Amino acid sequence: MAMGKIGVVGCGLMGSGIAQTAAQAGFAVTVREVSAELLEKGFRNIDKSLARLVQRGTLSAEQRDAARSRLRSTTKLEDLADCDMVIEAVTELLAVKKEVFQDLDALCPPQTIFASNTSSVSITEMAVATRRPERFVGLHFFNPVPIMRLVELIRTIATDAKVYEEVAAFAARLGKVAVHTSDRPGFIVNRLLVPYLLDAVRALQEGVGSIPDIDQAMKLGCGHPMGPLTLLDFVGIDTTYYIANIMFEEFKEPRFAPPPLLRRMVLAGWNGRKSGRGFYEYSDPENPKPVSLL
Ligand code: CAA
Repeated sequence: MAMGKIGVVGCGLMGSGIAQTAAQAGFAVTVREVSAELLEKGFRNIDKSLARLVQRGTLSAEQRDAARSRLRSTTKLEDLADCDMVIEAVTELLAVKKEVFQDLDALCPPQTIFASNTSSVSITEMAVATRRPERFVGLHFFNPVPIMRLVELIRTIATDAKVYEEVAAFAARLGKVAVHTSDRPGFIVNRLLVPYLLDAVRALQEGVGSIPDIDQAMKLGCGHPMGPLTLLDFVGIDTTYYIANIMFEEFKEPRFAPPPLLRRMVLAGWNGRKSGRGFYEYSDPENPKPVSLL
């Protein structure tokens, strides 16, 4: 099957990055969000990211314009009905994702492939909520999607081998390197990353170091591009909290249990960079200031 038209559900951090990357690779992309405001916010991110790529010489101005012209936005799920593949990137909650896929299942022809960008929700559980579990895969990208080279590819016991190959070919066309992983919450990256991030919060709570010192330690001591608390703000406090809860629910191991401080931050709406405040405050985004949390 020739893949030409791609649908993306959700235009947040991940959805906007996935849509942009697919458009840069030559696909016609329609992105759906629930409101015009959220679409505008997502497209502002896309424009900023494209501008950075032009500035660093990765893209020419013509390539940027061509990519932009391949992107359409909509608030109607019906507008994704003619897509060859739909990639879901909505909130990390099973009930929300299931509803999206059930609605899509009723709208899209049987050959349309469904992919979820989930980090932790069971692919099998979403697949069996549709009438096409054999055409359902996990396709997990990393933030910022246009820059990070990895994608995790997940097949369930029900995924058709040919569908899996088509999605692997799609990932390669995006210029991504795929790793293959089984349908377990967190897959490979978050299985290892989430306990590390949660431990950084526990270290902060125990007074092991300040926010900037914990970050500096891991940047300069281990060569990480970002310290763990900066990375938590970057990924999203809410997203990490949801992922950790799902992993804890599955494995019942304390290392996956989200520390109470994360829950407090989610309740307060301190969801990190995207909300203007997390472990740092971002009124001057080039110069984030550590927040007093304890
Ligand atoms: N779009 C386009 N270009 C971007 C960009 C974006 N969104 N973000 C960064 N860049 C470009 C910059 O323009 C810059 O280009 P030059 O090298 O030509 O100057 C380059 O990338 C590096 O950016 P910066 O100089 O601003 O800063 P940096 O060197 O710290 O790099 C970073 C930024 C790539 C984000 C780097 O800090 C990094 O790799 N951080 C870790 C990110 C990470 O771990 N992501 C995975 C999170 S886990 C996840 O996403 C999945 C999940 O399920 C939770």
